[in-house]
Amino acid sequence: MNNIPGITDNDYRLLKEKYDDLDPIIEKLNNNYPVQYLIGNVSFYGYKINVDERVLIPRFETEYLVEKTINLIRKKKLENTRVLEVGTGSGCISIALKREIPTLDITSIDISNDAIYVAEVNARENDVQINFQNISIFEYSSEEKYDVLISNPPYIDYSEEIDPKTKYEPDNALYAKDSGMEYYKYMIDNHKDFMKEKFIMAFEIGCLQGKSLLEYTKNRLPNSIAYIEKDLSNRDRYFFIINE
Ligand SMILES: C[S@@+](CC[C@H](N)C(=O)[O-])C[C@H]1O[C@@H](n2cnc3c(N)ncnc32)[C@H](O)[C@@H]1O
Repeated sequence: MNNIPGITDNDYRLLKEKYDDLDPIIEKLNNNYPVQYLIGNVSFYGYKINVDERVLIPRFETEYLVEKTINLIRKKKLENTRVLEVGTGSGCISIALKREIPTLDITSIDISNDAIYVAEVNARENDVQINFQNISIFEYSSEEKYDVLISNPPYIDYSEEIDPKTKYEPDNALYAKDSGMEYYKYMIDNHKDFMKEKFIMAFEIGCLQGKSLLEYTKNRLPNSIAYIEKDLSNRDRYFFIINE
């Protein structure tokens, strides 16, 4: 039925439904243009999230960040608390969290105004109320502090070679200075600007960043519990800080 390399039969069916002429589409796919942008949406945690070149395509691994954070929120009985998402992009993380635990009060920030626009549309279409703000974390502070921070920030080092498909995604969604550690370190060092005294931070991380992040956190927040969790490929992928 479908002989385009790397395209599932389901993707092919969706493309056929959307486009009358598939020739230019196939040419784009052959140039590594992401099929998700051509289809225009993805399923994230079971929710439909619109995507285009203004936002990062939500990754499968990020669904597990959401799942693990939901479990932690429930375990710690934090269902009625304030959550800050840093770098919301399409809004996928915040939307899934709010749909799963509607009592959470969620604020989601992003430096990209385009991303905030896409996230607002996605929140509306998924019927959730989230407070979106177009601001950089490096300038952010809040009078009303948060209990939980969740973030899948840019974490790729500028020198790293990456999948050619990612060249169509926004650069400011991908790269970070300081071996990709810049955002984590900033959020840890400046937690008093936005977090309550007791807080949880939940991060997605690059698979080689866990150990140095653990070391960094032990130095900066010596009374906290910090731990790494693995993804389905058994690579370090998530990092949690519990400061109780
Ligand atoms: C890796 S993407 C994550 C997007 C989405 N949360 C997800 O998991 O699919 C990182 C996001 O951080 C945003 N970002 C980059 N620098 C930022 C900054 N200084 N302050 C806030 N957001 C920033 C980017 O625009 C991008 O949307």
